[in-house]
Parts: sequence; structure tokens; C-alpha cells
Amino acid sequence: MSVWAVLAAAGRGERLGEDRPKAFAKLGGRPLLAESLERLDASAWIDEIVIVAPPGWEEPAILLAEELACSKVAACVAGGETRAQSVRAGVAEVGKDAAVIVVHDAARPVLSDGVMERVLTGLNEGWDGAVPALPLVDTVKRVRDGQVAETLPREELVAAQTPQAFLAPVLREALAGDLAGATDCAALVEARGGRVTTVPGDPRLLKVTDAEDLELVTGWL
Ligand code: CTP
Ligand code: MG
Repeated sequence: MSVWAVLAAAGRGERLGEDRPKAFAKLGGRPLLAESLERLDASAWIDEIVIVAPPGWEEPAILLAEELACSKVAACVAGGETRAQSVRAGVAEVGKDAAVIVVHDAARPVLSDGVMERVLTGLNEGWDGAVPALPLVDTVKRVRDGQVAETLPREELVAAQTPQAFLAPVLREALAGDLAGATDCAALVEARGGRVTTVPGDPRLLKVTDAEDLELVTGWL
């Protein structure tokens, strides 16, 4: 029984606005993808990795894994139109031996082993899924047509990050259904009645979205 990681790297990176997909934007002189890939490969918690690359970028992704001397990359597949479709394509490559599947965004390069340990420990406590989460600092409001309709109780709200860990059969089943509207994997599992817990996230797991984020993360490395 093993732990597989699916690294979602197939996005276009439209908000970053470079001439290449975000996974291949430069972060400290290397493709952004290198950072999370290297960290997953080095993690004692992870046995095998599936890379989900932007369509047409499978070859550069495989070459990068070779350059980094990654020993755990079992497959590299092209992603789909949405993140959920990309994850579905990646999970289809996960071996039958997988007990647990961890899904991580390549757009969150600063992955620590501490957060990996926390999500996997969460699963061991009997949950279907475990996700890293941060408390919100701002007050959150629901707005319709420019008017505030509701102010949400902040103490109940968190911001979900990745890596997100799931029992393999639970994630496979969730991905077999309708994927519309899901912005993370946990949402798909929750929608099917799966029990997902949160563990403390990490501010350094910032999702690189625009050029400023890229600069910020470069400073951290
Ligand atoms: N992702 C993916 N396949 C997609 C869309 C997103 O694998 N069709 C991945 C991205 O590569 C990223 C993560 O999901 O690692 C989070 O997505 P996001 O930050 O939105 O990245 P992009 O979709 O690439 O960026 P943008 O929305 O600005 O185009
Ligand atoms: Mg996107």
C-alpha cells in the first residue's frame, strides 16, 4: 500500500501572463514546476508521482524530472480544460497499489514536509480527506449586484490550500462524477458525502497567481 502524489501543473497561467504556461515560468532560474516536483520526490512520505502537464508540455516536464534526477515519477500526462479534469487525468495514472492520493498544485512551490505530515496524519485519524487550511484575516461578505447580501461568520471560515490527501477509493469515486464548479478536490469529495478534515496550513504555500507572487516566492527561496 503506497502514497501517490498527483502534481497539477497543467494550467495556462493566464493571470501571470507569460508566453508559456505558469509551470514553466522562471522561479529563481528554474521552471516553477521544479520546486514542488523536487520537494515531492525528496519527501519520505511520497512513494510515486504523476505529473499533469499542460497539453504539449509533457516532454519538457519529463526532461525536467530527468534533469532533477527524480526517482519517483511514474507517469506524466496532459491535463484538461479545468483543474478537476486535469486531476482526473492524473489520478487515472495512479497505480492500483495506492492507498492514499495526495493532490498538490505546482502553483504552490514552497511545499514543506511538515504540511505533508499533517495531512497524512489527519487521514490516519479516520477521515476520507485532509486539507491544509488557514484562518481568514478579513471579514468575508456575500455580494450580489453590488449590494452586500450577507456577512459570513468568520470563525467558521478557512482558506483551503494543497497538498490535499484522500483515501484513494474515495478520490477516484469523487472524480468519476460531475466535476463542474469544483475549485479543489475536497469539494468533490464533500459533495459525495465524504468526510474531510482540516489541518494547519502554511502561509508559504501561497499560490503563485501573478508576477508579484512570483517575486515574493523567489525571495523566500
Ligand atoms: N491546473 C491544472 N489544469 C487546469 C487548470 C489549473 O492542472 N486546467 C493547475 C495549475 O497548473 C495550478 C493549479 O491547478 O498548479 C491551480 O490553478 P491556478 O493557480 O488557477 O493556475 P492556472 O489555471 O494556470 O492560472 P490562471 O487561472 O491564471 O490561468
Ligand atoms: Mg486557473
